[in-house]
Amino acid sequence: MSLFAAVEATPNDPIFGLTDKFNRDTDPNKVNLGVGMYQDDAGNVPVLESVRIAEQRLAAHSTAATYPPMDGLPDYNADAQRVVFGADSQAVADGRVVTGQSLGGTGGLTLAADVYSSVSPNHKALVSNPTWANHIAIMAHAGYQVGKYAYYDGKTGIDIDGLLADLTKAEPGTLVIMHECCHNPTGYDLTRQQWDAVGEVIKQRGLMLLIDMAYQGFSEGLDEDAETIRRLTRAGLSFMVSSSFSKNFSLYGQRVGAVHFVCADTDEAERVRSRVKTAAREDYSTPPLHGAQVVRTVLQDAQLRDTWIDEVTAMRDRIKQMRTALVDGLHQAGIDDMDFINTQAGMFSYCGLSKAQMEELRSVHHVYGTDSGRICVAALNSRNIAHVAASIAAVRSK
Ligand code: LMR
Repeated sequence: MSLFAAVEATPNDPIFGLTDKFNRDTDPNKVNLGVGMYQDDAGNVPVLESVRIAEQRLAAHSTAATYPPMDGLPDYNADAQRVVFGADSQAVADGRVVTGQSLGGTGGLTLAADVYSSVSPNHKALVSNPTWANHIAIMAHAGYQVGKYAYYDGKTGIDIDGLLADLTKAEPGTLVIMHECCHNPTGYDLTRQQWDAVGEVIKQRGLMLLIDMAYQGFSEGLDEDAETIRRLTRAGLSFMVSSSFSKNFSLYGQRVGAVHFVCADTDEAERVRSRVKTAAREDYSTPPLHGAQVVRTVLQDAQLRDTWIDEVTAMRDRIKQMRTALVDGLHQAGIDDMDFINTQAGMFSYCGLSKAQMEELRSVHHVYGTDSGRICVAALNSRNIAHVAASIAAVRSK
């Protein structure tokens, strides 16, 4: 009798499980709008030119793969800080921001959850309703009791009154996870005024904010998309950020991200840093080298950095073009009430289809999005967009 006999299978992951199904689909017109991966107009996940050159340089000067520090490569961490907090951040200059290299954005969230767990007064976490499914899983796994705050208004925007009311009711010390931009899954982001109001409640109620910054550069620009983080830092809030280079460097599988803790002073920062190291050590010991070396090579060379910024701009512009093209295609297919797609930001669109309609989209039309109605508009291209628009129109017309 095997000791594994009692193991129960877990349900398929709502996002990666969909990719498995997509890979098994043999239909020539299949389209994967499930997972959040940017694709170019030819349908390929791009190797950025800046990354290609950095890879060549690294290959020409190969170095031994020694262990990096537990909290990652120091100069990579400094580069990641500059991308998120800006080159002129006083808090960074003052040594109040602790940054650790993480295994992508997911790893950043995990480290943040771990480190805060040592001082969390109630082990409660709040996520948006709806949110990226893994937010809930990560927080539950880290021992938090996970609740939801109002976010999507069920139509075409954000229920800001509900959101503020829910945060106002939260117990002090509760961990609150929010997307800075390109909200996953809805694509609806807070306005500047709404963020100011949220920041005020977070401060008043003594809540611990964890900002998920997975899509920096995909909404308005690399600096513009970090505006909330920079404002909150200047306002003196203590909070955490998980940032990722998966999307904006197209380095998904390299697992290259960072976690940042904005602390009150350098003494606090050093104690937090020791916790980051311990959390990493106990989980995976030290982070992987390669992705961080690639990102560091790009960010430390002015020309490569400019090339990268142009590439992020091109990806962002293409996503916006695809939104407009989808809305146009839907108009041509007789659907006039989905123009809200143009008001959303980032890789995803909550397209308003029900679970049954999403299933039909998959089984009849071979177009894959999540059951929640999320489609990845960054995977649309000039060849698949007509099919996607016609398919959505077909399931809508029933
Ligand atoms: C997504 O939401 O599709 C991506 O962030 C990939 C993932 O890890 O789920």
